[in-house]
Amino acid sequence: MVQVLINKLDKYLDFLYGYLILKAYVFRLRLNEEYFNLDYQMRWKSYLERANFEELIELACVYIKGEVDGRILDVADVMDRASYFALIHPDHPNITLGFFKDADLWNLWLESGIYRYAREAISETCNIGRGDRIIDFGCGSASPSFYSELIGEYGFYAGVDYSRPLLKIAKSNCKEKNLIDRVKLIQGFVESKMEFGREYDLAILSSILEYSSTRAVLKNAVNALNGQGTIIVFSELFRDVQPEREKLLELYYSLIPNFKKFPAVMEIQDFLDSSGYLYKIKMYGSHILKIDILE
Ligand SMILES: C[S@@+](CC[C@H](N)C(=O)[O-])C[C@H]1O[C@@H](n2cnc3c(N)ncnc32)[C@H](O)[C@@H]1O
Repeated sequence: MVQVLINKLDKYLDFLYGYLILKAYVFRLRLNEEYFNLDYQMRWKSYLERANFEELIELACVYIKGEVDGRILDVADVMDRASYFALIHPDHPNITLGFFKDADLWNLWLESGIYRYAREAISETCNIGRGDRIIDFGCGSASPSFYSELIGEYGFYAGVDYSRPLLKIAKSNCKEKNLIDRVKLIQGFVESKMEFGREYDLAILSSILEYSSTRAVLKNAVNALNGQGTIIVFSELFRDVQPEREKLLELYYSLIPNFKKFPAVMEIQDFLDSSGYLYKIKMYGSHILKIDILE
């Protein structure tokens, strides 16, 4: 079951990348005239100078073969549209990718986009079940009710996120499903130093490291586990696992306010080594990394 979900997640993310290659192939035709946002235009130009579209299109055709849930593409469509508006102005109001301003859109993508498939893969990989104590960094609106349902009434779930509007949706989802007693939602920055009033078994870092400092979030995660437990990381890209994807994905993801850069497995390992923990690390497919912190 774990392998089936991991393969599905990999396949869906391959499809998404293939779809963005096709979008970029058409978008490049717009770049002949000069736009106000020269910086964004130059970044595209520098990517396009090196990109071999004959090979990329061939690759894209392989990736977009087969069936996927079409809802995973919604965010890519909005990124494609936003890339045009970003040429006009970096803060153009039609760039609808903000975790605060566009929380209603993000809620849809978090519910039914790629994040839904990441959640399914995470819960199987970590065998999440009754009584588990989970902390979720950058929890968004959809994960709190999903995980807190799995852990049952004796489990505990804490979610940290800086977007009040997304947390508001998360809270109302949990209330609707009668889960609120086992849930704590905290509004804050995941990289700020945190104090934990309880210990957790599992720290979830799902699509958060590209918006924050990897070391600072990992420090909080390890402290939340109090020396023993599991950290699970999902990322649309680990830049040292699929380096050939980084430049194109960055052009699109950098339209999301506060995007920094995609994480690398090596930098996570460097942090763990320098912290002196005993740990086991394992990659599941290309997008899920599981770290067991041993006593
Ligand atoms: C792509 S969403 C992923 C949500 C959730 N982890 C999931 O997989 O469904 C990223 C989330 O991280 C939050 N976020 C981004 N940067 C953050 C930061 N520095 N501190 C706290 N939350 C942050 C956003 O508000 C958003 O809810």
